[in-house]
Amino acid sequence: MASMITESDAAALDLLLEKVYRDGGHDFREYKRGTVTRRLGRRLRATGARTYLDYMQFLDAHPEEYQKLAEDLTIKTSGFFRSRYTFQQVARLVLPELVVYKLKRGERSLRFWSAACARGEEPYSIAILLAEFLGRRLWQFDISIHATDISRQALEEAQAGAYSAKDVEGLTATLLESYFTHCGESYEVRSDIRQMVSFSYFDLTSTTGQPFVDLDCIFCCNVLIYLRQTLQERVLNMLYDSLSTPGYLILGEVETPPVSLREKLECLDTKARIYKKNARTN
Ligand SMILES: C[S@@+](CC[C@H](N)C(=O)[O-])C[C@H]1O[C@@H](n2cnc3c(N)ncnc32)[C@H](O)[C@@H]1O
Repeated sequence: MASMITESDAAALDLLLEKVYRDGGHDFREYKRGTVTRRLGRRLRATGARTYLDYMQFLDAHPEEYQKLAEDLTIKTSGFFRSRYTFQQVARLVLPELVVYKLKRGERSLRFWSAACARGEEPYSIAILLAEFLGRRLWQFDISIHATDISRQALEEAQAGAYSAKDVEGLTATLLESYFTHCGESYEVRSDIRQMVSFSYFDLTSTTGQPFVDLDCIFCCNVLIYLRQTLQERVLNMLYDSLSTPGYLILGEVETPPVSLREKLECLDTKARIYKKNARTN
């Protein structure tokens, strides 16, 4: 039982996370221990393991458990326009400047990345925000919103783009009517909005380098909080390298970026944690 696990099991937990990385391919070694311990407790209860060592044996006998563990260790809570203030500030501070910059240079591409997209609410919110902001000019732009996550289950649901009444309850009636089709029990994201978003698997802890380059804007919200400081810094440096100049990094109201990153970026909004990467002047 989870309650039988004491502080002295820290070494066993390290061993278990090392095994999950080595044999299961999921790297939770640098996640904050509090959430990992709580969530692991669920898997121990579900599998009848009494200790981390028991659970390691269970993993050897049931390799399919690795995926279940990875799903349980990732918290997928999200919502459309989850931080209303952050999206408002993106519309106010980022989009006008970015669009003017692109038009001046005769560029038509707008490249976004939602770096921990969960079930798709965030990237679809970005697409809707762009549609609202650009209005008739939407079709002048070639928009790509890359959306990645490590939860295969969440990615599958995101790709389907169908949500329950509860999932969409935070949206205004106008947005719901404009961008969703009500089909039976569910609300489906309109196909032109879906076409702007492409979903794929990407692990932010990966050391293989960034999957995208020259991005105009990255949303990385409500995920760094689960990572230890050193891993947060590595992820943020990778995101920084993925940005074009100018490029915008949106961390939202919850994350606290390390000082090293704040020194490299111009802060446009301290509450929504909106940062701008400027071209180097030296
Ligand atoms: C709380 S949700 C945040 C969703 C959305 N960004 C938001 O702010 O509403 C956290 C997401 O991060 C994902 N995640 C956790 N670790 C990750 C990693 N190493 N790489 C990519 N995604 C990860 C989880 O699967 C989950 O979908």
